[in-house]
Formats: sequence, C-alpha cells, structure tokens
Amino acid sequence: MTPPSDDLFQRLDELGAEAPAKISSATDTAELEALRLSYLGKKGSLKGILRGLGQLAPEQRKDAGAAANRIKEVIEGALAESKVRLGVGAPVKSAQGLDVTIPGRLPHLGSRHPVRQVARRLIHIFHNLGFAVADGPEVEDEWHNFIGLNIPPDHIARDPSENFYLEDDLLLRSQTSTVQIRVMENHPPPLRIIAPGRVYRPDTVDASHSFQFHQIEGLMVDEGVTFGDLKTTLRLFFTQLFQRDVELRLRPSFFPFTEPSAEVDLRCPFCGGNGCKTCGRKGWIEMGGCGMVDPNVFEAVGIDPDRYTGFAFGMGIDRMTMAFYDIPDIRYLFENDVRFLEQFGIE
Ligand code: DAH
Repeated sequence: MTPPSDDLFQRLDELGAEAPAKISSATDTAELEALRLSYLGKKGSLKGILRGLGQLAPEQRKDAGAAANRIKEVIEGALAESKVRLGVGAPVKSAQGLDVTIPGRLPHLGSRHPVRQVARRLIHIFHNLGFAVADGPEVEDEWHNFIGLNIPPDHIARDPSENFYLEDDLLLRSQTSTVQIRVMENHPPPLRIIAPGRVYRPDTVDASHSFQFHQIEGLMVDEGVTFGDLKTTLRLFFTQLFQRDVELRLRPSFFPFTEPSAEVDLRCPFCGGNGCKTCGRKGWIEMGGCGMVDPNVFEAVGIDPDRYTGFAFGMGIDRMTMAFYDIPDIRYLFENDVRFLEQFGIE
C-alpha cells in the first residue's frame, strides 16, 4: 500500500501542475472565480488534500504544510496573472520581480511663489474696485521711464548709478509708472488700471533691498477725480487686504509725475501702532507713493489737463508680502530655496 505521505505529496504536485494551466486558459472572470473556489475554496482541492495531514507522521506534517503553502502561492500567482490578462487586476510581480502593486510616490507639487500669491490677491481686490490689469515691457526707453513722467534730464533718478542702462536709450525699467504712460498714450479716459510687475535698480542687496523687486502701479483718470477718491481707493484696498479696519496716513512728499504728492503709510495692522518687529517699532509701515497726476504728464500723453484729473499710486509688492507673512529678509523672496517656498501652501 502507498504510504499516506507519498499520496499527499503526489496530489499536491498534481494540483501544482494542473491548476496554473487551467487558470491561465480561463476565458472570463466567472470561470476564473469558479477555478479559484475549486482550488482554494473551503471545499476546494487544496483543503481536501490537507485533510489528510492528520494521518502523517509529525515530522512529515511540516514538510507537507510547507509544500501546500508553496502550491497555494503558485495558484494565487496564476490567479493574479490571469486577472491582469483579463483586464481586472494589477500584477503582483512584474517580469523583473518588482512588486508593482506598491503605491507609487506622489509627484512633488510646487506652489505659487508668495510674491505671486500676494500679487494675485491685490489684482483681485482692485478688480472688485473696477481696475483692469495693464502690462508693459521690462526693457523700457527713457521716454516711458522718465521723460513722459516729467522727470527732467538732470534728476538724480536718471543717474547711471541709479539705473541698469542698456544700449541706446534703453534701460531695465526702474518703476512701474512706465505703464501709466503706455496706457494713457494708447487709451482715452476714463481709465482705471493697475500694473503689477518687476522693476530693477542697482541697489546694494541687504535685508530690505534688492536689485530686483515688484511694484504695483495704479492709475485712475476721469473728469472730476479728486484726492478724496485716491484716499478712499487706498483705504478700501488695504481694508480688503488685511481684512480689518485700517488707518492710512498720507504724508506730503514729492514725485515729478504727481502734484500734490504723498507717501502712503499704513498704521501697523500687527501692533495697532504700538510698535513691533514688522513696522520696525515705528507704528507705521511705508507702503509707497501717490498723488494727483501732474498736468505736465497729461500734456505729454495728449490728454487735456483742463478737462481731466487723475490719481496715481505705486507700492512695493515685496514689502507687502513681507508684512503679510512676517518675512524678515527680502532675500528669501529671490533665493528660491524650496524649503522656504514650501511654507506658503499651494494656493
Ligand atoms: N514710481 C514711484 C517709485 O518707484 C512710486 C510712485 C509714487 C508711483 C507716486 C506713483 C505715484 O504712481 O503717484 O518710487
């Protein structure tokens, strides 16, 4: 009589040969499932064979158990492969032996630069106030950067040490006020535009200066525009930006393209004016310049100064970004260290 062990090992071998062949020729998932049940189900072949385990000598039981596990793996592998073949499953192992079911690594998502995030917010707020976005080139001529803006040839702002001059009369624009001229040259009033963008000046780099930074220019021209409209526009803008009541201070100043001119100070929204790190203990944060468009500028672009008035303003976006996120050094904004940039979310 054949010993029970031989019988059991033989049946396992047969199962190991038969099952994968049948599984690999299954033609649909129902057939595959029926095969799975017939081999691995509670009443399936493998369980049936293993019922004979009890008749084996204890030391043979271990070997038979291990052999049964191997066969089970072979059958499971064949089932998984056939699922893929029938288009209903993922392969457990690729041809190279890699487990391709391991979840992949998520691609690294970048995020918008904080300056860009703030610029988008500014654009959105001014859009709601009726201002459209205008654009101009970063390589400008002297007409748009100076002459049209009523900046005379001997003005310090035109000195070579203050500008990146290129050949002929071209330079990297030193202010976004250039866009005012471009817009007024090409469009009749009424006008209401903002122009966010990059500007360049050969400043020595330190925590608050860079040779490259961002400004947002604003311009409104119509009949009867007043200084009161300017102040209201700025107040509404900052209220929206900081989402709280703000206090503005317009300090008399001078710019060649506005008359009268003022510096825009914002009572520090972080300390309420008591003095803190963000406002440099001054209680006020300098945001930029503004004023009523100088009649000479209107004349330069062919707008009748007797009929129209307008206001203009220019503010630093990097400064606003630093105040907004409490960033202590402007260089962080230009070094593009991803460990810094990653802190500002996806937005
Ligand atoms: N262009 C000026 C600057 O870069 C800022 C400025 C001041 C813009 C007054 C204006 C303005 O439109 O009215 O310093």
